[in-house]
Amino acid sequence: MNAAAPRHFLDLWKLEARELRLILEDAKARKAARLGWPKGRPDADRPAEGRTLAMIFEKNSTRTRFSFDAAMRQLGGDVIISTATDMQLGRGETIEDTARVLSRMVDAVMLRSNSHADVERLAGAASVPVINGLSDKSHPCQIIADLQAYEERCGPVEGKTLAWVGDGNNVCSTFIHAAPLFGFELRIASPAKYPPNDADLARAADLQGRILVTEDPHEAVDGADCVITDTWVSMGDTDRDDRLAALAPYQVDEALMARAKPGAVFMHDLPAHRGEEVTGEVLDGPRSLAWDEAENRIHAQKSILAWCFGAL
Ligand code: CP
Ligand code: NVA
Repeated sequence: MNAAAPRHFLDLWKLEARELRLILEDAKARKAARLGWPKGRPDADRPAEGRTLAMIFEKNSTRTRFSFDAAMRQLGGDVIISTATDMQLGRGETIEDTARVLSRMVDAVMLRSNSHADVERLAGAASVPVINGLSDKSHPCQIIADLQAYEERCGPVEGKTLAWVGDGNNVCSTFIHAAPLFGFELRIASPAKYPPNDADLARAADLQGRILVTEDPHEAVDGADCVITDTWVSMGDTDRDDRLAALAPYQVDEALMARAKPGAVFMHDLPAHRGEEVTGEVLDGPRSLAWDEAENRIHAQKSILAWCFGAL
């Protein structure tokens, strides 16, 4: 990477495996170092002291919004938050001009966008780091937090088998990106109408990723170490009824979990829809890592930010 180029965090596959591992280990260490502290107390090293993160939201958010805000405070920095519609972006100012202006005012920009191309355009024109806070194509911050939760409970993810059951959506794509870089096998069960992204699968294959795609949830889950799902209707999806019909056989319930390895865990990035993609029994049960994943958004993003700022 050019030393002068900003360190953007747009997709996991754009980083090297050792950089991703560095981020994940830093997240674990930062979390451990502040055990029992009040949530607003800054970390001892304050690696974002004097720095400001701008956050722009084109879509709703609870976890991403609050965790980035809390993360910057814990790093000793500050945030400015806006919805895109409140900005001149909402009246047609270009992404590129927005990038140039914000680069003069803040030290990094996080964008939650309807269109992944817009995240790339923002990064292309910005002279400060840009972070993908979820696009229609991927959700890289989420999967760092998820893998942190997995490893905290179950040990190294390398060599393990993770099963994705449901929509082959943006979150599924980032698990595909992660599989070859973290060395786990990924089995994806989704209906023919809502399959995983072909380009992501091709890229993972080039990296010798071990990825199985099937329409059969049992084939994916049998003997797996972890079962993962996400909402059947993502933000921006307009075919809710078709999705509920096609995805109904893909609900994660206790019977499906029983086919996984004894001790297998369940992951969900939230928000969840009990009775649709997962039963309340599984989501709220002892095998669910959903609440650790949500908490880890703070810890993981602190390490992502520290990497973007060159402090890692
Ligand atoms: N998982 C996640 O990104 O949640 P929010 O949409 O609430 O940010
Ligand atoms: N796939 C979901 C994830 C929400 C955090 C969506 O894009 O709406």
